[in-house]
Amino acid sequence: MNYPVTGIHHITVCASSAQEDIDFFTQVVGQRLIKQTILFDGRYAHYHLYYANANAEPGSVYTTFPYKRVPGRKGSGQIEATAYTVPKGSISFWVEHLDRHKVRHGGKKERFGHAYVRFEHPSGLELEVIEDPNDKRKGWTTSEITRDVTTHGFYGPVLSVRELAEQERFYTEALGMKKTGVDGNAHRFEIGQGGAGKTVIVMHEPDKPQGSWGFGAGTGHHMALEVGSDEELAEQKGIYEELGYTDCSEIKDRNYFHSIYCRSPAGVLTECAATAEGAFTRDEPHTELGQHLLLPPWFESRREEIIAMLEPIRVPESNGPVKVEHALPVSRRTDATFVGGDKAKKN
Ligand SMILES: [Fe+2]
Repeated sequence: MNYPVTGIHHITVCASSAQEDIDFFTQVVGQRLIKQTILFDGRYAHYHLYYANANAEPGSVYTTFPYKRVPGRKGSGQIEATAYTVPKGSISFWVEHLDRHKVRHGGKKERFGHAYVRFEHPSGLELEVIEDPNDKRKGWTTSEITRDVTTHGFYGPVLSVRELAEQERFYTEALGMKKTGVDGNAHRFEIGQGGAGKTVIVMHEPDKPQGSWGFGAGTGHHMALEVGSDEELAEQKGIYEELGYTDCSEIKDRNYFHSIYCRSPAGVLTECAATAEGAFTRDEPHTELGQHLLLPPWFESRREEIIAMLEPIRVPESNGPVKVEHALPVSRRTDATFVGGDKAKKN
């Protein structure tokens, strides 16, 4: 059976203060703020902030709802941490960098033979950087985080579950992942060829009480897997329903992508997302990503009312505008070696 899922698309969490989140992600994690928009659901205005690598690629997009208003409860059935790949040999830099910024971390550890360090966002969210020599995606750089140590994009989400068997069945039968390893209580699932951006780590933690599922500061909210088109979203919805996962949502318009959501058996909300035409540059140029608050067309007439309800924020100058080597591709093709054009050769 062919499955439409090709990798991780984005990971979405709830932070606390918006400015604290921007400062931490741009200065400590070294990500580029690529989009300021708002949560499209509910009655309260909340920011929706997107951070990513240099090319704003799916598979590196971490999105946060600053949700100071409601605290979350950490636990099982949640995204426990989000892991970014970094170059081999760079973990010692990251330990020193985190110490310099007085960030709580767990020191250098190893999982599936990869060195990593887990650290804590000011809201309590957890992140990891993990060494991966094979990831060639282009990371964002800052005055402190240079090309030789920067993150490339996601390795993948790290989940906590109390029960493993049904989550494993969901991943393998409904999404087409392969289980490729166990290291202690860590279970590794991979999509397609696996590796960076195509891996999900599931920590089996049977004694950990269940965490909150709704929006709440300091907790993960959902992980999104990439599919190629709206037709493939419909195909995935059909796979879910055939297997009995009938709580899959209808296709929702998230402006930059279209999505379906399904609650996985262990509790982690699982989205499938198909990038919309133009992706993150559909409403602002690549050089100005993240500089301005952007609203979807259906909220634009209410801009002043919405802004009045949001925390004022300041985007660091180092976020851009920037001179880029390549415009963000609008198609799936991201690289090519050209050997000729469409002009007829002169004899
Ligand atoms: Fe999402």
